[in-house]
Amino acid sequence: MMQYLYMFLILVGVLLVITIFLILVEKLLGSGGGERTITINDETQVVVMGGDTVLNSLSDKKIFLPSSCGGKGTCGTCKFQLIEGGTPIKPIEKSFINKKEEAEGVRLSCQVKVESDLRITLPPGLLDAQIYKSKVVGLEDLTYDIKRVRFELIEPNHIDFKPGQFVQIKVPGIEVVRAYSIASDSEDKNHLELMIRQVTKGAATTFVHKALMIGDKIDIDGPFGDFYLREDSKKDIICIAGGSGMAPIKSILYKLKQQGMPRKVKYFFGARTQNDLFLTEELMQLSKDYPNFEYIPALSHADDDKDWKGEKGWITDIVRKIAGDLSNSEAYLCGSPGMIDACIKVLKELNMSEDDILFDKF
Ligand SMILES: Cc1cc2nc3c(=O)[nH]c(=O)nc-3n(C[C@H](O)[C@H](O)[C@H](O)COP(=O)(O)OP(=O)(O)OC[C@H]3O[C@@H](n4cnc5c(N)ncnc54)[C@H](O)[C@@H]3O)c2cc1C
Ligand code: FES
Repeated sequence: MMQYLYMFLILVGVLLVITIFLILVEKLLGSGGGERTITINDETQVVVMGGDTVLNSLSDKKIFLPSSCGGKGTCGTCKFQLIEGGTPIKPIEKSFINKKEEAEGVRLSCQVKVESDLRITLPPGLLDAQIYKSKVVGLEDLTYDIKRVRFELIEPNHIDFKPGQFVQIKVPGIEVVRAYSIASDSEDKNHLELMIRQVTKGAATTFVHKALMIGDKIDIDGPFGDFYLREDSKKDIICIAGGSGMAPIKSILYKLKQQGMPRKVKYFFGARTQNDLFLTEELMQLSKDYPNFEYIPALSHADDDKDWKGEKGWITDIVRKIAGDLSNSEAYLCGSPGMIDACIKVLKELNMSEDDILFDKF
């Protein structure tokens, strides 16, 4: 009887030792197998512990990719290009990655795990993104649902961005991170301005519209995005925006104005009614000051608005009516996904090449 008890205790002891050994191995090496090297753009190498996502592993090394949904796979902003290594593409990624991108290895960094050494490409400039401590110095209602928020950068107190790019703000307390296009002048490196539209029950926008106060301290990270003014191009420009899509176009216009508006620019702004228009006087004045610039606001729901003397109808129809042949133009579009898809169709009908159409959908 004692013999069986001894054997049982020895067996339990052996199992215990094996379990502790496996836990130690797991802890030391991680599920991704210990230290892994990520080679970025064939020039920078970072060594990380395997097992976590590319997004988190890079963030631990102070390389910040945009991640408006906090890594849940629902925003599609955390794209990068995987050249070698990595885990297979997941169905959740496919809703943000088209066939061409998939063939080029474009992936969502929050969904790819570092389980082997990786070779990746990040968009140029992304390695410069960092976290800025800032203070709110201006809050202004532009319409009933869009607020302009002005931040002074404190640490670091200087940002370089390209007109059209976006940053992310972290909502204090709930730690929600959301992307917002920069509306301000890229020459003013100590301040950032955002235009934030209230989304019903939206976490970040409800905070901004109902709770944010002058003097509040906010963490901002960025800049991000490949939607920005191509400054070396000489082509005419078509801008199309709706709602808070005004923001990146405003930043682009600052730059074009500083250059003396050398290219012909037509800016189409789609709104429902006059209540949804803002900065109209400023943009009309710009039209007067620069003959190359034309501002064309259009109202989709203004049939019985006798005061409105401007364009009436869907922005796509107005573009089709006014823009003319676009074979030597490039476009900057910003607004809802539906509006942008419809506009792209019209721009192509007017002979614009797909490579000349740049957009941010939100
Ligand atoms: C690159 C980029 C740039 C952006 N720039 C701007 C900008 O300049 N100004 C701006 O106002 N927003 C901008 N956005 C959108 C912004 O990041 C947020 O998604 C938006 O403000 C909603 O955040 P929330 O936390 O308030 O809503 P959430 O809490 O995320 O959402 C609440 C609910 O609203 C729905 N919802 C989320 N977003 C929208 C929307 N835009 N319209 C309608 N319903 C929505 C969600 O599906 C959800 O059901 C940008 C997004 C991206 C990716
Ligand atoms: S962080 Fe939003 S999809 Fe990856």
